Amino acid sequence: MTSISLSVNGKSVSGDVEGRTLLSAFLRENLQLTGTHIGCDTSQCGACVVHVDGQAIKACTMLAAEADGADVRTIEGMENADGSLGVIQQAFQDHHGLQCGFCTPGMVMSAAALLKDNPNPTEGEIREYLEGNLCRCTGYHNIVKAIMAASGQDVSKIAAE
Ligand code: FES
Ligand code: FES
Repeated sequence: MTSISLSVNGKSVSGDVEGRTLLSAFLRENLQLTGTHIGCDTSQCGACVVHVDGQAIKACTMLAAEADGADVRTIEGMENADGSLGVIQQAFQDHHGLQCGFCTPGMVMSAAALLKDNPNPTEGEIREYLEGNLCRCTGYHNIVKAIMAASGQDVSKIAAE
């Protein structure tokens, strides 16, 4: 076992992990932050995307031990300080960007990373960026619309699906 200490959503946390423990498992099982979903555990679906030191990464591709000392943000850290939905979360709700919701945490975390680097993405740029995030309900159209709305773009002329 290895002892690790890191910051998760602004709080200092620590724990003992095995060398093979994935960051996704540490977040869910040690910290009970179950908003980070596991869809494949093989780096294909994007349900587990979190931010590590400001970069979006699939938490099933990183060992928990590698996150020692890191600054991690999960979907639980995306709400506003008053507990209301953050701007991207609210846009997903407003534009029906989710159906079963399984992919949603990863989509929101990927969207946040995209908007940090590209505050005004085109529809094509959003679709390309989300290549690594799969939605089994195939609600991509409204996900893209929600992200455009979260970036402050007028989506009133984009048809609903
Ligand atoms: S659970 Fe990590 S990419 Fe699917
Ligand atoms: S909303 Fe169901 S997997 Fe995307």
